[in-house]
Amino acid sequence: MILAGCHSQPALTPQQAEGKHLYDVGCAHCHEENDLRLKTVPPNLHGLFDHKTMPDGAPATDAEVERVILHGKGLMPSFAYQISQSQLEALIAYLHTGLAGENNQ
Ligand code: HEC
Repeated sequence: MILAGCHSQPALTPQQAEGKHLYDVGCAHCHEENDLRLKTVPPNLHGLFDHKTMPDGAPATDAEVERVILHGKGLMPSFAYQISQSQLEALIAYLHTGLAGENNQ
């Protein structure tokens, strides 16, 4: 399978690539850059599913991550009204790559 993305990045499936786009547009400004300078610094989501629990101690499962995205959490807004089910699945698929292609912090 040939999926030429940007050079030196691992190839993503079309679904993961869609998820990366959504992440870059909707999540990265907080989770990579904290551009709003939130007091609760948005946790680093790289390798989210490599551990049994997320940074806050909740289980690192698809269901839990979906819940956070749909309902928000603390200073994180809910995305329920802006995201379709297939976009949600794409985002989760991308998070499962450990965030391939993002700047490693
Ligand atoms: C306005 C800034 C902001 C945006 C945009 C944002 N987040 Fe968050 N996110 C946060 C903050 C702050 C927390 C920590 C919440 C807390 O623990 O109180 C968080 C927590 C999380 C967690 C839970 C981590 C844990 O340990 O429980 C996940 C998963 C997550 N965000 C994913 C996403 C995804 C995916 C997107 C894009 C759809 C996104 N976030 C967009 C600020 C943001």
